[in-house]
Amino acid sequence: MTVSGHASSTPRMALAGTRALVTGGAGFIGSHLVDRLLREGCNVTVYDNFATGQSEFLEQAKQSPRFTLTKADLLDTECLTAATANQDVVFHLAANADVRFGTQHPRRDIEQNTIATHNVLEAMRASGVDRIVFSSTGSVYGEPEVFPTPESCPFPIQTSLYGASKVAAESLISAYSAAFGMSSVICRFVSILGERYTHGHVFDFYRNLRQNPTTIDVLGNGKQRKSYLYVEDCVEAILTVMPTANKDVKIYNLGTDEYCTVDDSLGWICGELDVEPVRRYAGGERGWVGDSPFVFLDCQRLRELDWRPSIGIREAVLRTLRYLKANQWVLDRR
Ligand SMILES: NC(=O)c1ccc[n+]([C@@H]2O[C@H](COP(=O)([O-])OP(=O)(O)OC[C@H]3O[C@@H](n4cnc5c(N)ncnc54)[C@H](O)[C@@H]3O)[C@@H](O)[C@H]2O)c1
Repeated sequence: MTVSGHASSTPRMALAGTRALVTGGAGFIGSHLVDRLLREGCNVTVYDNFATGQSEFLEQAKQSPRFTLTKADLLDTECLTAATANQDVVFHLAANADVRFGTQHPRRDIEQNTIATHNVLEAMRASGVDRIVFSSTGSVYGEPEVFPTPESCPFPIQTSLYGASKVAAESLISAYSAAFGMSSVICRFVSILGERYTHGHVFDFYRNLRQNPTTIDVLGNGKQRKSYLYVEDCVEAILTVMPTANKDVKIYNLGTDEYCTVDDSLGWICGELDVEPVRRYAGGERGWVGDSPFVFLDCQRLRELDWRPSIGIREAVLRTLRYLKANQWVLDRR
């Protein structure tokens, strides 16, 4: 089904009536996906423990008679299996999504990202559900040597516990597909921006500038180059790639054909806020352990499906900032 007003013109799987389980559906990206699936006529069940998810993000969804909420943890296998029964597809987005603090909680990524994914796959197998879409990350490439980085790029060395836990999850999904004939799509996102954004550099810069507009601390040297994707374009891309798996595994980079530096982005943020802080750089090429100094994914495979982003990085940064300005509770909550 093609939806007018969106960037992709690829014919899609008819979604109306599809029963979809969205793990992490109360989160930043998940809640946008939920709203979109409901607009497409799906019956949507959100499975979320609200560790970082926000009930406000589901306000629109809750108005729909086709919406069900299960507040539970993916480590609760009994509850997960019950929620998975009778679904047509699982969009597995729940995770510990913040890459920076892995070293402070070495078990968290393994538990929330790898074991949780195994639990999802087992619940699917037990329930006879055979289609999964997984939110992986460009972090799986570690620090690649090829730019833009294609899906086929070797990535033998991991630099973050987050990336490692997602590689392990991807591997489990591939193995389950081979063993049990599942149709699996693995989406490797760049960093996502947009409304309901709750973690990342725009969040941190804005929160800090709100407190002190005269000085800003920058992790690293500010020259890290990063690619970003607007959340609505991410959701559109997810729905574009979803039908391409047929009892096999398909892997896609989800990003844009541009990147910016941390300094660029900070400049746009300061311009929008009309502040001129002194920039204090921590120094070094990386902002934290596991930070990749250059993220730029080759999205040719996605573009071949006629998907195009609707906005560029600068506009995505500004929309994120405007959302945070209008929704200060998000900053106070975290
Ligand atoms: N935001 C990005 O820039 C980005 C980039 C690459 C990949 N991703 C991936 O996309 C997915 C969504 O990220 P997001 O930015 O929306 O993060 P988020 O933190 O806003 O959403 C994650 C959701 O999962 C829920 N959750 C976490 N652990 C759970 C558990 N054990 N049981 C049930 N629910 C649980 C949280 O409450 C939250 O609602 C994640 O898998 C993340 O790794 C995000």
